Formats: sequence, C-alpha cells, structure tokens
Amino acid sequence: MKNMSPWWIRIPLFFFIIFGLMEYVIDSGDQLAIIAYPITQLFLLLVLMILIAMELILQSIENVMFHTLPEKAKERYLATQSQTWEWTWAKKWYQKLTGNKPIEEEGEIILDHNYDGIRELDNDMPPWWVYMFYATIVFGVIYLARYHVFDGVGQNMEYEIEVAEAQLAIDEYKKNAKDLVDINTVVFLAEASDLKAGEAIFESNCVACHMADGGGGIGPNLTDPYWILGGGIKNIFQTISEGGRDGKGMIAWKQTLKPLEMAQVSSYVLTMEGKVPANPKEAQGELWIDETKPNQNVIPDGIKEQEKDTVTVAMN
Ligand code: HEC
Repeated sequence: MKNMSPWWIRIPLFFFIIFGLMEYVIDSGDQLAIIAYPITQLFLLLVLMILIAMELILQSIENVMFHTLPEKAKERYLATQSQTWEWTWAKKWYQKLTGNKPIEEEGEIILDHNYDGIRELDNDMPPWWVYMFYATIVFGVIYLARYHVFDGVGQNMEYEIEVAEAQLAIDEYKKNAKDLVDINTVVFLAEASDLKAGEAIFESNCVACHMADGGGGIGPNLTDPYWILGGGIKNIFQTISEGGRDGKGMIAWKQTLKPLEMAQVSSYVLTMEGKVPANPKEAQGELWIDETKPNQNVIPDGIKEQEKDTVTVAMN
C-alpha cells in the first residue's frame, strides 16, 4: 500500500483517461463528442459512478481485512497508512531544476565574507535558467540562419499570404452566398430556378401596377427597351431595391424582399423585354443600350429605329 496514490488522484485520473479515450475513438467532427452526442454524457456519468463505487468497495474490503488481522499486523498496517503520499518524482525533478542545496549542506558553499552577520552562499546558477539560456542561443542561431541567411517567410510576407488567403475565402463565400448580393455584385441570374422564383415574386407583388405580362398600367411598360430609371440588371435592381421617384408609386422593395429575391425578380423583369404584352403602355424614358455589349453605342441614327424592335434582353 505504500506510496499508492490517494483516491482524489485516482478517480480523476481514470476518469480523464476514459474521457480522452472516448473523444479519441468517437469521430464527432469539429465538435467534442460529449456535445455532438449527448448520450456520451450519460456514459461518463456512469463511468464516474462506477469509479466511485469501486473506491468504496476497495475501502470496505480493506476495512474488513483490517479487522481480521492479528494485533501486530494491525500496527504495521497503521504505520504504513500514516505515511502520507508524496510526489516523490515531482520533488526530485524540482530539486534537479532548481539545483538548490539542501539546508544541511549549505555549509559547503558559504562564502568567507560576513557583513554584520549577513553571509553569502555561492549557489550555482539554477539549471532551469542555464538550460533556457542555452536554448535561446540555439534559437537565435536558427532564427538568424532561417530569416537572414536563407530567405525565410518573414512577418510581412506571412501577413500578405494570410490576407490573400482570407480574400480567397471571402470570394468563395460570396459566390455561395447568393443572398449577399447588392447593387455592386448583382448579376443576371440565368438559371431557370431563379427565373421561376422571380416570376412568382413578380406575380404576387408587381402585377397590380405592371401587369402580369409587364405591359404596364400605373407603372411603366417593362417589355420595351425604354427605361425611365435606367435599364440593365444593376439599374433595375437599384430601382426595385430603392424605389422610383417620389410620389410615382414605386416603393422601395428592400423592406419586403430579400436581396436574392430582388435579384431574381430583376432578372425576371429583364427576360420580359421583347415580349409583346396584350395592352402595352406607351414607351417612357430613354432607350437603354447595354454598354457591356460592344458596338451598340455606335449604331448610326438611321438604324436606331429598326433597332428598337431587335434589342434583346440586356444582360450584364
Ligand atoms: C404601386 C404600383 C407599383 C407596384 C406594386 C410596383 N411598381 Fe414598379 N413602378 C411603378 C411606378 C409608378 C414606376 C415608375 C417610377 C418612376 O417613374 O420613378 C415603377 C418603375 C419600375 C421599374 C423601372 C421602370 C423604368 O422604366 O425605369 C421597375 C424595374 C419596376 N418598377 C419593377 C417593379 C417590380 C419588380 C415590382 C414588384 C416587386 C414593382 N415594380 C411593383 C409602380 C409600381
């Protein structure tokens, strides 16, 4: 029994070993297993209870055996029990690291001088300090070689690499997060699912003023290439998001629609251009020429009339 660790070390030790093993064995992704699978909490509770029960059983066995011992053996047993458990290895290590001389041996290192009774010990430098000092020298040499002799990646470079990586991650995120679109990033959504969603939004919010076929009523005709507030996906998105001119009746839809929904309905509006509505309202505003398409700006005046019919969906 001598030098056996006390229960308050044994129980936590076994508990954490089992806990660690469990986390190691159960694959729970980034999360801890006890969070990902709450049932494991129950398991750990059980383990703890079993450990405690085992301690209690051991203790009572010891108790029973003690009473069966003859008197002499009882005394011997009690003597070993009274020896308190000690961190012998830890003490040894501490002794090694500090290099302290035990008080009994201080006589060997005491120096000759004596200032009014104050005397000086000639202690060695503590080994922990000396080893650390050597370690810094080794570190210094490696550092010098790595960053000043061979071109190691310095902190400026490290910073730039991190920023570049973060930028990549942001771009990647934005690509997947369609809902983050704004006036600067909005593009024509050509996918059928987006256009279908756009059509549904248009039908439930916009037909009262623009008609189901976009021919116009209170609001302007959306099928012609003439736009009061500018054509193209960006301007249309802007108009839908921020609304038309004051007092005209076109409200700012950003209160009601999410950015993605506004992008979808903007795309849908663009696909209406060129359709022939049942009751078209007369064209209002300016002819919109998509500047991203080459050569459209330089069409001679004569052909412009003709072009009115042939301008197709303006996509950015
Ligand atoms: C209450 C009636 C009303 C509703 C509802 C309405 N609009 Fe409008 N819309 C207008 C009016 C009026 C204008 C003209 C604004 C102006 O002249 O400034 C307009 C302008 C527009 C324009 C710009 C047209 C141009 O020539 O520049 C677009 C695009 C548009 N609306 C899309 C929509 C969409 C999409 C919806 C549904 C989410 C919608 N509107 C709902 C009345 C409405």
